[in-house]
Amino acid sequence: MQDINLKITDRNGAIHEVLAPTDMSMNLMEVIRSYELADEGTIGVCGGMAMCASCQVYVIAGSEKLPEMGDEEDAMLSEAFHVKDNSRLGCQIHITEDIEGLEVIIAPYP
Ligand code: FES
Repeated sequence: MQDINLKITDRNGAIHEVLAPTDMSMNLMEVIRSYELADEGTIGVCGGMAMCASCQVYVIAGSEKLPEMGDEEDAMLSEAFHVKDNSRLGCQIHITEDIEGLEVIIAPYP
């Protein structure tokens, strides 16, 4: 297992190229938190349960690499703010080798 490269644009528009480990069962929300790319308390509010949408991201490259949305993710995004066609919940995106090169923008909070 090895690290994958992700490109994450923060809420201030700064682009960060980060490495994420595929062997720690992390999700994208946790990667964003671990690199402190969003203020504490404004991301991962529900702890990754698909119940808050604070981890919402817009996928700008690599969406074809992602698994289909689950029912819980779909339901949460149907009532969240700032939702676009390319919105996903970061906590529902698992870090695997399949998503190497994914590019996202962190959605505004809330
Ligand atoms: S952390 Fe709450 S929905 Fe993802």
